[in-house]
Amino acid sequence: MRTPMIAGNWKLHKTLGEATALVAELIPAIAGNNHVEVVVAPVYTALHKVAEAISGSNIKLAAQNCYAEAQGAFTGEVSAPLLKDVGCQYVIIGHSERRQLFGETDESVNRKVHAVAEAGLGTILCIGETLEERENDSMLDVLRRQVRFALRNLSTEQMAHVVIAYEPVWAIGDAGIPATSDYADARQAEIIATAEDVLGRRVPCLYGGSVNPENCQELIQCPHIDGLFIGRSAWKVEGYLDILTRCAAVI
Ligand code: 13P
Repeated sequence: MRTPMIAGNWKLHKTLGEATALVAELIPAIAGNNHVEVVVAPVYTALHKVAEAISGSNIKLAAQNCYAEAQGAFTGEVSAPLLKDVGCQYVIIGHSERRQLFGETDESVNRKVHAVAEAGLGTILCIGETLEERENDSMLDVLRRQVRFALRNLSTEQMAHVVIAYEPVWAIGDAGIPATSDYADARQAEIIATAEDVLGRRVPCLYGGSVNPENCQELIQCPHIDGLFIGRSAWKVEGYLDILTRCAAVI
């Protein structure tokens, strides 16, 4: 099994000063850590400075989105090759906030997954059902559709760099209720089976949605949870470190 990934999604937060201050505290605190793969995902404007700050450390860098084309007349967009150029190792694709607020579709997600793979970067592919889909019991169909569509026509080589993040929409953010570990693990098992059917290999699958210091140990110990994807609890270095330390103690 690969090293569990614990990724912090900073969403639309942090000035340059705040972003670099967080990693400056994080680097010495996790030096020597080889239990988990630590990934931070700042806003575009902080990527360069954070890349410089974490250079030589064991922290990896993710962008929160990209455009599907490498270059051209696409005012306001940022492409995967440029994210590689700035020092990213991963790009988050298909986060539910992008699907819900910015019109991201299974089709655009698939195009972006291809663009990220083409640039030689890893994809953190986000999927998850809404509350309505859970309540009308269509979540399995939704999750399977999201996985199959997103991974369509990827080559074996490109598939090697995909990590799935299962983030039930109803579990994310201030109004979110964390999934129980039993619920999350059951969905993750189904997602992994679907991805294996498409890709022919076991794909790592993270859980995200109201992860906090209290629930992280139970979640990370589930057989189908290969890591955690954290929003609010990773925005302060103390919260993120607390989770890293607690997880390292049980894996
Ligand atoms: P929260 O941890 O704040 O619920 O956010 C999760 C998330 O969206 C990570 O991508």
